[in-house]
Amino acid sequence: MHILVLGGTVFLSRTVAETACDAGHQVTCAARGVSGNPPDGVEFVQVDRDQPDGLAELGAADFDAIVDVEVQSPTRVRRALDALGAKAGHWTYVSSGSVYADEETTGQDAAGAPVVPPPPKGSDETDRELYGPFKVACEEAVREVVGDKAFICRAGLIVGPRDVSDRFGYWPARLAGGGEVLVPGAPDDLVQYVDVRDLAQWIVHSAQNRVVGTLDAVAAPRRWGAVIEAMATAVGAPDLALTWVPGPWLAEQGVAPWAGPDSLPLWLPLPAYAGLMSRDVSASLDAGLTTRSTEEIATAALDWERVLGLDRDRRSGITREREAELLTAWRAAA
Ligand SMILES: NC(=O)c1ccc[n+]([C@@H]2O[C@H](COP(=O)([O-])OP(=O)(O)OC[C@H]3O[C@@H](n4cnc5c(N)ncnc54)[C@H](OP(=O)(O)O)[C@@H]3O)[C@@H](O)[C@H]2O)c1
Repeated sequence: MHILVLGGTVFLSRTVAETACDAGHQVTCAARGVSGNPPDGVEFVQVDRDQPDGLAELGAADFDAIVDVEVQSPTRVRRALDALGAKAGHWTYVSSGSVYADEETTGQDAAGAPVVPPPPKGSDETDRELYGPFKVACEEAVREVVGDKAFICRAGLIVGPRDVSDRFGYWPARLAGGGEVLVPGAPDDLVQYVDVRDLAQWIVHSAQNRVVGTLDAVAAPRRWGAVIEAMATAVGAPDLALTWVPGPWLAEQGVAPWAGPDSLPLWLPLPAYAGLMSRDVSASLDAGLTTRSTEEIATAALDWERVLGLDRDRRSGITREREAELLTAWRAAA
């Protein structure tokens, strides 16, 4: 197959290009080329999706499959659909679990779950507060133009090599550091994520097998305690000791959930966000999504953390000093 990846220079889109190339496909990556380099073995075409005719360099070629990872701009998505929709045998659009309207109910699947409305006309396409609504608008554009050949995969947390969000990687890095580790929430809480290589594999598989429809792109939910134990087995230091601290107490101390400065990744307030980490993904697994073990994911994520530098200032996570303060305060409170 000849696959066009709109992107191909950073994280998921680059991994899709690499995976497709390794599977023997002819791959073209199209991006500005300012954020990174495409993998070896692909053709690179410089394009700028912010320009009305920015995809013209792609010429008149047909593609067996096109993969679009546009974050939230319906304008960019429509431009790609207008320029390339008729020339594509299959179209993947990477959406997000942020489209869902009900973040609390557990066990929902992609088929039945309601989504938020698209943003009001004229909204700013760069407004990150409107990420979910804009993803809905992007999905709608894809269904409208190439609906009969569209695979829309709604990703949850994407983790693994080349992730620059500093979220999942906090845990393997911290466990490898050893000593007393503060773990938020409770061992029975559910968490959900997908390794970037598994998602890339599924996207290529779906292009090959003409999978169409809208499906969630995360592994089945796992118990948070089992995840931490598996990561500790794979990458933990010998002197590791876990101290579980309840989420509501951490929130009172100003620790942020999920991402950002002074946060604890993978932790979400419950029950308010329980629905985001407990999705029923049977249909995705039936449609060819395969998922690797947490041990394997943690090992690769730690390797990538080492490339980034374990002592760097993180975009997400807490510092060792902050963790020690919190542990002391928790012991005093408890
Ligand atoms: N990360 C997560 O946990 C997560 C969770 C749920 C959903 N998602 C979704 O997953 C998708 C994956 O994104 P990603 O961050 O992994 O993608 P990525 O690999 O970083 O790819 C983005 C590509 O877009 C290109 N690009 C940016 N601006 C461009 C422009 N004006 N013209 C042409 N190309 C442009 C970039 O290259 P240049 O800058 O060089 O042009 C880059 O190659 C997104 O749709 C995101 O919403 C992510």
